[in-house]
Amino acid sequence: MMNLARLPFRVGQGWDTHRIEAGRPLILGGIHVPCEFGLAGHSDADVLFHSVTDAVLGALALGDIGMHFPDTAPEWKDANSLQFLQHAIGLAAEQGYRLANIDSTIILQRPKLKDFRGAIRANLAQAAGLPESAVGVKFKTAENVGPVGEGRSCEAQAVVLLVLQS
Ligand code: C5P
Ligand code: MG
Repeated sequence: MMNLARLPFRVGQGWDTHRIEAGRPLILGGIHVPCEFGLAGHSDADVLFHSVTDAVLGALALGDIGMHFPDTAPEWKDANSLQFLQHAIGLAAEQGYRLANIDSTIILQRPKLKDFRGAIRANLAQAAGLPESAVGVKFKTAENVGPVGEGRSCEAQAVVLLVLQS
C-alpha cells in the first residue's frame, strides 16, 4: 500500500484577499505597482505571495499562513511576504518535496496589471526557485461586480504542485 505520508505528488490551493486603502503601496508578487492605492494588511499585504504560501502549506497539510505568521505578531508588521513563501518552501524541502509548478490569478478591477506580468512572473519564479516556464500569473477584473469589482479589495488564487524528491 502507498505510504500516504510519502505521496509522490501533493497539490495545494491558496486564496487571499486584502482591502484596498489609499496611500498604501500596491505590492504584488514582490513587485511595486505604481498606483494611488495599495492593499491594507499587517505585513506588506502581498496578496499573491500570501495565496502561493497558503497553497504550499496546504499541499503539505500544514495549516495556513496565519498559523505560521500570526498577524498580531509585531515582527511581521510591514514584513516582506517573500519570507513567508520561502519559509513554506523550506518546510516542503524538509519533508523531501520540491515545487514543480505554480499557477495563479490576481483579481483586481484596476489598474491593469498586464504590463507588470513579466516582472511579477520573474520575481515569483525566482522566489520559488522555479523557471519562469513553470509559473503562471493571470489577471482578471471582477466585471465591476462585488467588493473586488467595486474597487474595494483585491484577491489572489494559487495552485501548486509539489513533487517528492527521489
Ligand atoms: O477580467 P477580464 O476578463 O475582463 O480581463 C481581461 C484581461 O485584462 C485579462 O485577461 C488580463 O490580461 C487583463 N487584466 C489586467 N489587469 C487587471 C485585470 C485584467 O491586465 N487588473
Ligand atoms: Mg494576505
